[in-house]
Amino acid sequence: MKRREFLRMSATAAGAAMTIYLPVGWRPVRAAAKWRVGFSQCTTLEPWRVQFNKEIQAEAKQHPEIDLIITDGQDKTEKQVADCENLIVQQVNVLLISPKESAGLTGVVEKAIDAKIPVIVLDRNVDTKRITEFIGGDNLAIGRAAGEHAVKLLGGPGKAKGNVVEIWGGMGTQPAHDRHDGFHALTDKEPGIKYLLNNQSGDWKQDQAYNIMTTALRNNENINLVYGHNDPMAYGAYLAAKDAGREKDIKFFIGIDGLPDEGATWVYKGLLTATFLYATPGAEGLRQAVKLLNGQKIPPVITLPTMLITKDNAPEILRKNGLL
Ligand code: FRU
Repeated sequence: MKRREFLRMSATAAGAAMTIYLPVGWRPVRAAAKWRVGFSQCTTLEPWRVQFNKEIQAEAKQHPEIDLIITDGQDKTEKQVADCENLIVQQVNVLLISPKESAGLTGVVEKAIDAKIPVIVLDRNVDTKRITEFIGGDNLAIGRAAGEHAVKLLGGPGKAKGNVVEIWGGMGTQPAHDRHDGFHALTDKEPGIKYLLNNQSGDWKQDQAYNIMTTALRNNENINLVYGHNDPMAYGAYLAAKDAGREKDIKFFIGIDGLPDEGATWVYKGLLTATFLYATPGAEGLRQAVKLLNGQKIPPVITLPTMLITKDNAPEILRKNGLL
């Protein structure tokens, strides 16, 4: 990274002095009646993404001075790159992006920054430090929490025993790697835990996880715990087990996301054992863009909190969301 390309701006987050990067010479200058904020969403094929868009749109309604333009990458890197190029041509004042994958979207993010558009990256990262801010959950911490919970379910530290099926999210994304690494930081300490699959990716999709699980069931008589890198995949695995008449033999299904009408509901119904909240960065992303446009300081990173969802607190979550 060429330091001189950037204007250093001091920001304070959690009491610590930090530095954020803005394209050199960038000033929040409003050319049109409204600020134009572009949001490149990678897909709307997954429920979490749909919720994400709803939350960013709801937040945008609170800011009449903002014109929010949302694009849908349709789960294809090339389409998302083209979307971003379009938003650059439209000269958005800030670009928000939630990338399909890191490597393929890095170039166009840099192109936006070269065009003096500050970029705020949401949920999945890109491979450049030149962005102004990153907002997302701590996937390593979530993976660790999932690993800790799995060890507990399988008999406790030092005694845990069981055969584990792990279904990866997209291989080209940091969240999948972090969710894997965090989990294994805990479960690899247990000699009694065996892994049945070798890094198999369901690309975050329920149907792909269903197919992976169907094969795993065919090849393994004894499966004790399934860890899906998101709830749709954990649920897809559950459905495969159910269709094979084995859902009762497999004691534990763990997922991540915790959407009220999805993961939390499946936990409430006893189909999943646990999930971990992975809040969407939609509302916060827009609020940060507004702050930046108002000349306020924003931190380089905002980490969204998580929480374990089990049968104990699932009813409360459903109730709060009018689902019970
Ligand atoms: C949606 C999703 C979520 C997951 C996140 C990880 O596209 O797969 O289910 O938590 O992306 O980036």
